[in-house]
Amino acid sequence: MNRALIDKLEETSHLTKEEWITLIERRSQDTAEYLFGKARKWQKKYYGNKVYTRGLIEFTNYCKNDCYYCGIRRSSPNAQRYRLTREQIMECCREGYELGFRTFVLQGGEDGWFSQRTLEEVVRSIKENFPDCAITLSIGERSYESYEGLFQAGADRYLLRHETADPKHYRKLHPSELSLRQRKDCLYQLKKIGYQTGTGFMVGSPGQTAQCLAEDMIFIRELEPHMVGIGPFVPHHETPFAQEPGGTVELTLFMIGLLRVMLPKLLLPATTALGTIDPLGREKGIQAGANVVMPNLSPVSVRKKYELYDNKICTGDEAAECRMCLNQRMKNIGYELVVDRGDFPDHL
Ligand code: 5AD
Ligand code: FES
Repeated sequence: MNRALIDKLEETSHLTKEEWITLIERRSQDTAEYLFGKARKWQKKYYGNKVYTRGLIEFTNYCKNDCYYCGIRRSSPNAQRYRLTREQIMECCREGYELGFRTFVLQGGEDGWFSQRTLEEVVRSIKENFPDCAITLSIGERSYESYEGLFQAGADRYLLRHETADPKHYRKLHPSELSLRQRKDCLYQLKKIGYQTGTGFMVGSPGQTAQCLAEDMIFIRELEPHMVGIGPFVPHHETPFAQEPGGTVELTLFMIGLLRVMLPKLLLPATTALGTIDPLGREKGIQAGANVVMPNLSPVSVRKKYELYDNKICTGDEAAECRMCLNQRMKNIGYELVVDRGDFPDHL
């Protein structure tokens, strides 16, 4: 029964909400293996055994938002706030370039201190110095004009997870000033402007049901993003969700497999959160259909401060160590980390 649903997903790339719920609720180890087999077949067709890599630069942990799950929310009492200077950001890129990174992801909280002009200048100077690299921004909800300006300045891609596509669940995870409608509008705008656009969600966030995950899959099918980042929810000790259980490796892998089969060309990261709850989480993510890893390029001095959740891995490791570590990890499972921008196939 579930195999038939996976076959249908592969053939049509659409399931009804009820079918998604059945597939997710009644999953078993057996169906998961069947799913991962198909996921790897598509992964191989479009990407061979290549794994793309992005250098993540966490340039500010100031944030005006107050998402209940996040360790750098504005009311986190003990978060030690920092901002990298433009020079520090450029230094991360220089180091990253030497190590073979050809995509830089600038990620931060929603921090008004960085004006539109400053952000555009940062993007422009990275492009000037590293013309063969792609720039990904992950800086939250902004106006159409702002997204457009940053695109004109040279940004190629944008990551903005929708977090959950179920409006009631969205309310449970966020304070009332944030809305799912707004979030979705931003994503459609980003695509329209021409960004390679990434969305995503946490697996096992408080209050999430199979129904919510079904909504996530239906929304992603409709949006047709180029990238989807998913990872387990991991509680942070200073948030309202400190006592909530975290998401599981098993369900996260299953969702990765479903995404690969639904939209076979997707860029799908095996996330740091997955590596945090299982020492072999990233390897398992790749074997379930993921094809991207995003190690950290931020200066070691600030790494621990960008603490979205507890026990985040690699906070003490130099960028070079992570690069070597991931090289080896990918080699161990028969994959190869490549020096490449790693664009979405056929993106013009
Ligand atoms: N556990 C797992 N992922 C988290 N994120 C934020 N807080 C947590 C947490 N506690 C994710 C969100 C966000 C991305 C940058 O990090 O999905 O979009
Ligand atoms: Fe950072 Fe392994 S990836 S040490």
